[in-house]
Amino acid sequence: MIAEVIARLEEIVKYLKPLLPLANCHMVNFITNGMWEIYVPDAIKKEFSSVKPEVFNTIFLHYAKEISMDKIKGELESVPNFANFLESARNMCLRGISAQGIVVSLSDLQAKLAAWGYEYQESLHLEQFMTLKKVHEVEIMSQMVAALACISHASHVVDVGGGKGYLSSLLALHYGLRVLGVDSSHVNTHGAAKRTQKLEKRWNGLCQRTNILKQGDVPPCKGKHRKPHNNANSTKGCECTGAEADINCRLQSESSALYKQVTMFVTQQTDLCSLVKDHFNSDRCEHLSITGLHTCGDLAPACLRIFANKEECGSVSNVGCCYHLMEEEYVRSPFWTDTNPPLPTGVQPGFPVSKCLHMQEFSLGRNARMLAAHSLDRIGEYHEVSTDEIVSLYKTHSVEQQQLHVFFLLRVALAPVIEAVILLDRLLYLLEQGIQDSYLVQLFDPVISPRCYCIVSLKNYPGKGTD
Ligand SMILES: C[S@@+](CC[C@H](N)C(=O)[O-])C[C@H]1O[C@@H](n2cnc3c(N)ncnc32)[C@H](O)[C@@H]1O
Repeated sequence: MIAEVIARLEEIVKYLKPLLPLANCHMVNFITNGMWEIYVPDAIKKEFSSVKPEVFNTIFLHYAKEISMDKIKGELESVPNFANFLESARNMCLRGISAQGIVVSLSDLQAKLAAWGYEYQESLHLEQFMTLKKVHEVEIMSQMVAALACISHASHVVDVGGGKGYLSSLLALHYGLRVLGVDSSHVNTHGAAKRTQKLEKRWNGLCQRTNILKQGDVPPCKGKHRKPHNNANSTKGCECTGAEADINCRLQSESSALYKQVTMFVTQQTDLCSLVKDHFNSDRCEHLSITGLHTCGDLAPACLRIFANKEECGSVSNVGCCYHLMEEEYVRSPFWTDTNPPLPTGVQPGFPVSKCLHMQEFSLGRNARMLAAHSLDRIGEYHEVSTDEIVSLYKTHSVEQQQLHVFFLLRVALAPVIEAVILLDRLLYLLEQGIQDSYLVQLFDPVISPRCYCIVSLKNYPGKGTD
């Protein structure tokens, strides 16, 4: 697999290199720096001058939403170079390479986990105290983390950059795992503790409500006079009943001991195992499972480096975000000085991590990394603004506005390609460390959660070798 990932990554980098100036330009300078003239391929400029701007929009929407192009053949034929640009970009992004087995689907990963002996515990669709986006992410990710922790016999899970504890609390309350949430922000750590207290108080009721909804029934209105269930099968202190509930409810006292929070800035040098022992007052820390949902900037590569370098870590699952916050090895910011370096001594930049890209001294650039976080899947959801000022500006700059639009479409088509480089670099880093069971999984619905790819990796787990 490593040879395939290297070949693919090199192919994408070769494609991307000449397009990086386009990806790295700053849109606010579009008019002042004459970017249309400089960066747009001549053939596309020619198409723009002979075809209505709406055609570009129509084609792009079909491309982004993966709608069949059969009904817009005429439009496609009128702008073949623009269509080719989009098609080439599509072939270079993670969607384009999923068919080649480098990116696996969630169901494929689940099949692998089942083959390794994991019996899935039902996930919990908990809608309280979270946005719907978070509900989607946490429901899927918690089930996968529970599986990884179980297969690797993890004594604890560390949720790095755990924020307000949405994932951690579910791992503890629903799956009964011991979880340490680590976040650099005290406000978040404090918020996580408060939120978990609130959640725990209402946990039994929430479980019951979720079970009733799952069975297609209407839960009783909330009110003081609702009598608690008192079923012989119910867990002590829990309103969920064995007969009507297959959701796992735990004793409140047990749950609060399962999830602890700590405020700390994590780098590749952080000793997560010692942190776990300190906070759980325990000598035991085995096959630690590291997880991170939307770990910004350098935090994602730091998690992978900790996992690869520490014997006591058994699994990692990581969804990154905010790629623009990463430090790059081969891009030197004009604001750095030798006395004021961007990173503490011994901490390496987050990009690249693989030997393959190090050997090429490859860099992306900040605006390209910023572009990588754009969502193709969300294109097409516009909000109208109509003020006199905007109308008058629009009239003055209407041609440039149309050019800007096409320019934006060209750049945004590169977004998933750049993300592919960043994520394949991370996957390759793990494979280069000899950790064969490393995967890139599309975990979430990209419309709901654009940063939807998860790096999943396991090493030294008990069933290893029986694959
Ligand atoms: C995008 S938020 C995600 C929070 C949470 N995982 C979630 O999904 O809701 C990223 C979190 O990582 C934290 N963070 C960023 N860099 C960190 C670092 N180096 N060490 C610890 N926490 C960090 C931030 O404070 C923030 O809470």
